[in-house]
Amino acid sequence: MADQPQLSADYTPPAGAFEGRVILVTGATGGIGEAVCRRLAEAKATVVLLDKDLKALEGLYDRIVAEGGPEPAIYPMNLEGASFDHYPEVAQRIREGLGRLDGLLHAAAVLGKPAPVDHYDVEAWYRTLQVNLNAAFMLTRACLPLLRASDRGAVVLTSDASGRAGEAYGGAYAVANAGLEGLMRVLAAELAETTSICVNSLDPGTVATRLHAEAYPWDNPFELTQPGQVAGAFIRLLGPDGRDCHGQALTVAPSPKGEG
Ligand SMILES: NC(=O)c1ccc[n+]([C@@H]2O[C@H](COP(=O)([O-])OP(=O)(O)OC[C@H]3O[C@@H](n4cnc5c(N)ncnc54)[C@H](OP(=O)(O)O)[C@@H]3O)[C@@H](O)[C@H]2O)c1
Repeated sequence: MADQPQLSADYTPPAGAFEGRVILVTGATGGIGEAVCRRLAEAKATVVLLDKDLKALEGLYDRIVAEGGPEPAIYPMNLEGASFDHYPEVAQRIREGLGRLDGLLHAAAVLGKPAPVDHYDVEAWYRTLQVNLNAAFMLTRACLPLLRASDRGAVVLTSDASGRAGEAYGGAYAVANAGLEGLMRVLAAELAETTSICVNSLDPGTVATRLHAEAYPWDNPFELTQPGQVAGAFIRLLGPDGRDCHGQALTVAPSPKGEG
């Protein structure tokens, strides 16, 4: 497997870099999603929080407001059940409510059911690809007109090494991740000549989140990298210092574990 270019997570954006900017984050209440949303709000971005559990979204809204960030927007949406029509509606609501969109981070995912292909449950396969890959395609497609209108549009797809490694039993989760990096490359090639939108994928490595705990319940979360320790790399790609990255399948450079 070719070495992936690495991005350091040791990053603080320049003052004002996100002031007046609107960033949409899926999987906003997940481990990595929340860490990135709070860091974006700390940098004064207006964050559109998209996830499926309204209570969890309201909790995150309260934390962001309590921390002094700009008031975020909440968008409850179940990506598994959402139909194709729901995606343009997300873009429409952002246009009407906030007037712009500068960045889109896909961080929603389910693990699916790790199993050999011979025995992979077909419904679980569809559901996993729907949330992890098809939703990212449909949401990106719907948001492109808004991102085109920004002077600094950015799309970041969160990926996983399992998509590159061809890991046995990775099933639909691994295949979706291979697809996300494929989507990133195709989109980046299409946008390179005609827009200023930067499109990249970022693999955070092993991070202590619910998804990781489901896949590796025997791991001690306190010995793993914490979500706050990878958030900086996502922030960099979504802001002005990410402008030199386009069409790259990046990984977060390893950092000391257990802090952040
Ligand atoms: N953690 C790692 O070690 C690791 C490694 C490589 C890549 N990644 C990637 O990092 C990204 C973030 O994952 P994470 O580790 O932060 O996991 P996480 O904490 O489980 O976050 C995933 C989020 O996606 C949400 N989600 C799941 N199904 C959804 C649906 N149908 N509609 C809307 N939202 C839905 C989850 O909501 P609920 O909690 O309510 O289900 C959760 O908030 C994913 O793309 C993952 O593949 C993680």
